[in-house]
Amino acid sequence: MSTENNFDFDLGVVGLGYVGLPLAVQSANSKLKVIGYDVNEIRVSEINKGQSPIEDISNSELETALATFEATTEQQKLSMCENIVISVPTPLTDYQPDLSYVISAARTVGENLVKNQVIILESTTYPGTTLEVLIPNLERYSNMKAGDDFFVGYSPERIDPGNEIWKFKNTPKVVSGINEKSLLKIKKFYESIIDEVVIVNGTKEAEMVKLLENTYRHVNIALINELAMLCKMLDIDIWEVVDAAKTKPFGFQSFRPGPGVGGHCIPVDPEYLSFKTRQIGKPVRFVELAQEINNSMPSYVITRCSELMNANEKVLNKSRILIMGVAYKKDISDTRESPAKDVISGLLDKNANVSYLDPFVENLNINGEEITKIETDSNLSDFDLIIIHTPHSEFKNINFENISSLIFDTTGSEFIKNAERI
Ligand SMILES: NC(=O)c1ccc[n+]([C@@H]2O[C@H](COP(=O)([O-])OP(=O)(O)OC[C@H]3O[C@@H](n4cnc5c(N)ncnc54)[C@H](O)[C@@H]3O)[C@@H](O)[C@H]2O)c1
Repeated sequence: MSTENNFDFDLGVVGLGYVGLPLAVQSANSKLKVIGYDVNEIRVSEINKGQSPIEDISNSELETALATFEATTEQQKLSMCENIVISVPTPLTDYQPDLSYVISAARTVGENLVKNQVIILESTTYPGTTLEVLIPNLERYSNMKAGDDFFVGYSPERIDPGNEIWKFKNTPKVVSGINEKSLLKIKKFYESIIDEVVIVNGTKEAEMVKLLENTYRHVNIALINELAMLCKMLDIDIWEVVDAAKTKPFGFQSFRPGPGVGGHCIPVDPEYLSFKTRQIGKPVRFVELAQEINNSMPSYVITRCSELMNANEKVLNKSRILIMGVAYKKDISDTRESPAKDVISGLLDKNANVSYLDPFVENLNINGEEITKIETDSNLSDFDLIIIHTPHSEFKNINFENISSLIFDTTGSEFIKNAERI
């Protein structure tokens, strides 16, 4: 890329996690010179040694990228970057949006800001954050004026960890800027690394795009979960219904029932939307209903498991239960907000002995208790009940028909024939 100010780096990424690291690696692989700034020293050192902390980036991909990419804890290096993307966490704390990471990153960037830099926020957040939180902090710590001295925009991240088809480069990217000059620079930057760039005019609209996408998923998952519970009462096989409905080539997108929703996005982002609309005195009623239904799924799973055991003259108390898959989705190690945690916590409350099997998750602590990890080659018939929580691809290699334990499957996996399904 050409650099107006002769910046040493095309891109500086602030926060090298599930979002920031793929951006840094992909940009380096598109021949950009990149630095990644992170406050986590261990992560920075591992990345520089070619050890990727996330599944979507292999060590060899990272090694290749390190030719034009380095991770650093030195914030001064941000002043050498033409474009800076902020991708730090936006969690909930006490059920409220927690923008402390964004504010702290804005301060770091602001203190090192130089004229003509382009600052883009990618963290998921409520509409208005770029204008009301990011810019005031950047201006305060830089003594410069956004839109004149430096340029600002928002671009929602659409990364789908574990997705083999829709990767960083071929997933269209929505971009916005606070004025025309900002937008043009931001568009040019993303066009250098992504196949298709979609422009929206305002940063609030771009922030809202992400919340719409994830609220849509949240609400539709809740709908299918509610229908799954009702179908069970009506003695209707919901899985057969979903499989048949999804053959409709138009007007229907299929969602599958499950033990709840997990990850950093689906359970969290709608809360950011609710927070914003409550400021104008309006709850998002769809979101609140969806939350109620999805949050009730772990206890529904426990109730169904208890019924299954009861029908087989067993009780949860002192039973041996194995949870297969504790990550929030298949083939990744991320357990953030995973419903497996609520399922396990509920089972522990009922005095069950719970173990887990997950090839991606090294250890699991629930309410201060270390949960025993079981290896795939263990005797799985040793358990009173197995709950299939996450449909990791590796589980396809297990012959479930040889397992004598009761099996409750929350995933509707076709290769498990001898299970009670959600
Ligand atoms: N994980 C996903 O699939 C996904 C998808 C789309 C959007 N998002 C959004 O992207 C944002 C980042 O999520 P993530 O999953 O990459 O988070 P993450 O926890 O994987 O990574 C965040 C990184 O930021 C670093 N960090 C925290 N504060 C910092 C600071 N002040 N300066 C520099 N580094 C700092 C942390 O050390 C960590 O390495 C969130 O807003 C999230 O909602 C995530």
